[in-house]
Amino acid sequence: MRAFGFDLRPRSPGPLLNVDDYRRAARRRLPAMVRAYVDGGADDLATLAGNRESFARWEFRPRVLTGHRAPDLATTVAGVGLDLPVLLAPVGLSGLAHWRGDVAAARAAERHGTRHVLSTASSWTIEEVAAATAEDHFFQLYPHSGETASALMERAWHAGNRMMMVTADYPVRGNREGERRTGMGPPPVLTPARALRMCRHPVWTYRTLRHRRISARNLVEGGGVAAAVESVEIQERHLSQATLDWDDLAWLRDRWPGRLYLKGVLTAEDADRAAVLGLDGIVVSNHGGRQLDFSPATLDVLPEIVAAVGTRSTEILLDCGVRRGADVVKALALGARAVLIGRPYVYGLAVGGEDGVIRVLDILKSEIERTLVLLGVPSVDALDPTSLRRRPPSAATEHGEAR
Ligand code: FNR
Repeated sequence: MRAFGFDLRPRSPGPLLNVDDYRRAARRRLPAMVRAYVDGGADDLATLAGNRESFARWEFRPRVLTGHRAPDLATTVAGVGLDLPVLLAPVGLSGLAHWRGDVAAARAAERHGTRHVLSTASSWTIEEVAAATAEDHFFQLYPHSGETASALMERAWHAGNRMMMVTADYPVRGNREGERRTGMGPPPVLTPARALRMCRHPVWTYRTLRHRRISARNLVEGGGVAAAVESVEIQERHLSQATLDWDDLAWLRDRWPGRLYLKGVLTAEDADRAAVLGLDGIVVSNHGGRQLDFSPATLDVLPEIVAAVGTRSTEILLDCGVRRGADVVKALALGARAVLIGRPYVYGLAVGGEDGVIRVLDILKSEIERTLVLLGVPSVDALDPTSLRRRPPSAATEHGEAR
């Protein structure tokens, strides 16, 4: 349809070919508050941007005529064999992106032969996710008080979770001004104007009101707006762990019968301490740039952490800024056992629920496979730093700016 020379047909977004396409499609579907929650970061967003830029600082050293067949992506994390070296990171309140939230994510993960890490602040309870899935998934703990931590650990263990990661980079909530501006809080404030603006997203609004999955269901009863406000208050009061120290971690290690990982490690010193404590793994993470702004990009600190852990058996995972299969390959080449993705699967959720997460994982999987073939490396296990070299600084900057 044309009027006054303008084409008034709704513009088709075209096929969704990569994670960035999913990001744009997700942003169209979500109201401003939720967009700010999912996509925002702390303060000046320096770490958020740095997470992406760090991947552009490395380039590949491809080998030709290697004669390898289809690459093998299988790996092992926490004793669990995975078909794909990509896990789904813990994301609180994922029911804001799609009402099926954690259940959809965990089911998509197992359809891809990998695992989802359930957040303490999940929209579906530990037990509900366990009942809706066939595999034992992983659990993430915000260890507020000892009593609550004990209760959550017991529930997670009984539900079949055998790996737990303790998130340590949340001594206080990061300053996310986008969330504060749009009314996401804390505390969340729904004014009439905001409610009206939400109605521009009728599908999202209808599903959200109908299914009520916007609170942290492990912590509060109910899932509507009042429960959402209450769960944010609980998180503010109890989840922030400014007094948490290494003795607390040792206490958790002694009580948790399964594998224990520490999430939020960014220095060689802390990685060494975790290994000395006998933890099974660490997650090199800056919480997706949502906590301490100007904390380093995880890929930049990975080499010093790998060196600090040395030959000890502590597994090293990495997240933050992974958007391409090539990013996964770079992280693995520098010594990560596997990576986690946060926002990319939340975009998939927002666009298509469980199938949307499957599609995002399909995309990353085929990108990893293609990268390995072009690189001449037969499997993710065979990756090492000889596959990479640092880009000359000018090339890396230009690429970073072009993104
Ligand atoms: C998170 N993250 C997070 N981490 C955690 O340990 N517990 C949690 O409840 C949450 N919640 C959460 C909500 C949202 C909306 C986001 C985007 C992230 C951090 C998450 O586990 C992971 O570290 C980052 O998301 C990784 O960065 P990318 O992949 O989003 O760039």
